[in-house]
Amino acid sequence: MSENMFKSKRLPPRPELYWQEDGVPRDQINDDVYFSVSNGLEETREVFFRGCGLVDRWQAMRAGISASNTFTIGELGFGTGLNIAALRQLWREHRPNPQARLEVISFEGRLMRVEDAKTALSVWPELASDVQTLLSLWPVRAKGVQRLCLDFGMSLLIVQDEIEPALKNTAFKADAWFLDGFSPAKNPEMWSSEVMAQIALHSAPECVVGTYTVAGHVRRALAAGGFEVSKQPGFGTKRERMQAIYPTLPKPEIYCDPLLLNTERACPASVIVIGAGIMGACMAQAFHERGCDVTVLDKGEGIEEGASANPLGLVAPRLDGADTPQARLLIDAYLAAIAFYKTQNIGAWPVDTAHFSSSNEEIGRHAKIKDDPPLDTDLLGVLEDEGRQMGLNYLSSMAVSPVDVRSQLLKDINVVWNTKITSIGAVDGAQRCVTAIRDGQVFEYEADLVVIAAGMGIADLAGGEGLPLRGRGGQLEYAQYDGPDFARSKGHYVVGANGKIVFGATYQDSDGKAPEASDAARAENMLALDVLAPELKEKILSGKVQSATAVRAATPDQLPFAGRLPEFAAYRAHYGEDLRTGRALKPIDGQGFKALYQRGMYAAGGLGSRGLTWAPFLAQIIVADAFGGPVPTGADSRELIAPARFFMRQLKREKPKKD
Ligand SMILES: Cc1cc2nc3c(=O)[nH]c(=O)nc-3n(C[C@H](O)[C@H](O)[C@H](O)COP(=O)(O)OP(=O)(O)OC[C@H]3O[C@@H](n4cnc5c(N)ncnc54)[C@H](O)[C@@H]3O)c2cc1C
Ligand SMILES: C[S@@+](CC[C@H](N)C(=O)[O-])C[C@H]1O[C@@H](n2cnc3c(N)ncnc32)[C@H](O)[C@@H]1O
Repeated sequence: MSENMFKSKRLPPRPELYWQEDGVPRDQINDDVYFSVSNGLEETREVFFRGCGLVDRWQAMRAGISASNTFTIGELGFGTGLNIAALRQLWREHRPNPQARLEVISFEGRLMRVEDAKTALSVWPELASDVQTLLSLWPVRAKGVQRLCLDFGMSLLIVQDEIEPALKNTAFKADAWFLDGFSPAKNPEMWSSEVMAQIALHSAPECVVGTYTVAGHVRRALAAGGFEVSKQPGFGTKRERMQAIYPTLPKPEIYCDPLLLNTERACPASVIVIGAGIMGACMAQAFHERGCDVTVLDKGEGIEEGASANPLGLVAPRLDGADTPQARLLIDAYLAAIAFYKTQNIGAWPVDTAHFSSSNEEIGRHAKIKDDPPLDTDLLGVLEDEGRQMGLNYLSSMAVSPVDVRSQLLKDINVVWNTKITSIGAVDGAQRCVTAIRDGQVFEYEADLVVIAAGMGIADLAGGEGLPLRGRGGQLEYAQYDGPDFARSKGHYVVGANGKIVFGATYQDSDGKAPEASDAARAENMLALDVLAPELKEKILSGKVQSATAVRAATPDQLPFAGRLPEFAAYRAHYGEDLRTGRALKPIDGQGFKALYQRGMYAAGGLGSRGLTWAPFLAQIIVADAFGGPVPTGADSRELIAPARFFMRQLKREKPKKD
């Protein structure tokens, strides 16, 4: 597989499949089979499952919410998903305790169509229910990272890209590896010494590598990475197989990124989330699902208030014209949101959004996207009128009722309304203490971890100079609607679903508060309706039209932030002088560059006009960071949403002190 094939197009290639007479899929490019039909499943169980000692090692996991109750597996080559379906079956049968987690991260450069995987896996009826679950969540073809939320505490990250850059752009440590490329002779890119060096870098102490090959260069490359390599009896017709075990001693940590940190696991038993908007609700549910005791505190009177209480909102992608870390971030977030809302049984409806180009810049961008689309034709179409390109069609995007979704997410969680947080401190250095006022009385809450998801409220609680937030007020109009679900956008948007229609919205500077509803804003929204859905105007105006206003919290670079809250003073002390003078950064403790954080403090916000898209994805990122699991986006994309980025940029702009 040549690297150019990946780079020339934004959509990753599909495999070129050939079905053998025995029903086994064969890849024509690498001229090799995905598995053998006579013993493929048994080989998986022997080489990967028994070879990595999975069941015995799972039984040694300790119950509770701790790092040792999570087991992480990396896989090279997702292929038909056979290994994953069989792994789910094994995990279901041997999950050591109800809180135990299995995190799998699988790399694939040529994702198979779901119909092909279904045909391939149909030869194993004993895996039927596991196959069915996997197929129902099958990833979308797109470069980047997607997280499939399986059940029984098992989740699967699929990374789609050429193997070497994909490994270099992910941060996690595996307890076991399944090396399952095609044979080294036919698929050398999957077994190169660079790839094996990455396997070593992504291995936890005592990590075991399972593989069917004994090829000398693979053995030598793993040994060079620090693995203890030995030969074991092989499976079936193979005389030998290799075993590679990573040493027990922890490796010295190499710090290399002043923005990110994924090594200190917080594994909190208790979490306080400040804010019950869409961000707080997604956050609370994600920690609750991990078994944490979650409390949500909000100063509002109830769920029907604020930006996250608009009658309907649109979840549609923002697509960039080229394949950049930002473009992948936006796609990862969009696909995560769509997958998330699909699994909610309330408050979300698939709609096709006709998005019309609204400026010369957008016309140019849409033309680039048409020439080299980042999403497949089932998700992205082109709007044309008499051959003229008008914009893009976002197929299967979503109309969302934020109040219904939030109610559902918060239904099993302790939410305390009318409770305004005034400060956050530390108890004995370990726990966090939150001070709040309710009905004029002061209350204190303690937890292992606090997430500030307070919309514009983040500015007072954590921001200051370090997290610059700007208020952007907005008004929209809404009315009853009985037509088919639909959405259109061109700067403004109109969306109709579930008996309601919403159109707007205005976008104006605000002091951080929701603006008063105004006639001028209504006139602007009416104009938008004229442009986007003129055929509906008369009917809508014959009923009652109401206005809603709220404030969006936006950042200067229009991207949100999610992660640990920076220790701003430490950034200034360690990196300030070098950033101001443009010198290379000085390593900390002689070890490298690391992010400097306030213990147990996270923030997620700056969601701007796309909070419904960002929130589910950012919640996954924070939970992965807190538990030390693989993060569902590339490291270069994640840097773009690191909370410390604003402060580092600000330090760069400060003038050097004169002596
Ligand atoms: C007119 C308009 C239309 C929009 N349309 C869309 C759309 O179609 N699609 C889309 O994706 N996005 C849309 N947005 C943006 C979206 O609504 C926001 O991005 C999103 O609601 C932000 O969610 P949040 O949870 O971060 O903040 P919020 O919803 O503002 O929630 C923050 C919560 O924190 C609480 N809080 C604040 N300070 C404190 C404190 N000190 N103590 C306790 N609690 C506190 C608040 O009471 C609030 O409940 C729109 C926004 C507007 C204004
Ligand atoms: C033997 S198959 C994997 C079988 C799979 N584990 C299963 O359970 O069906 C090898 C996989 O590696 C993928 N692959 C091969 N070369 C690659 C490369 N350079 N980058 C990324 N993926 C690659 C192939 O597309 C193929 O899906």
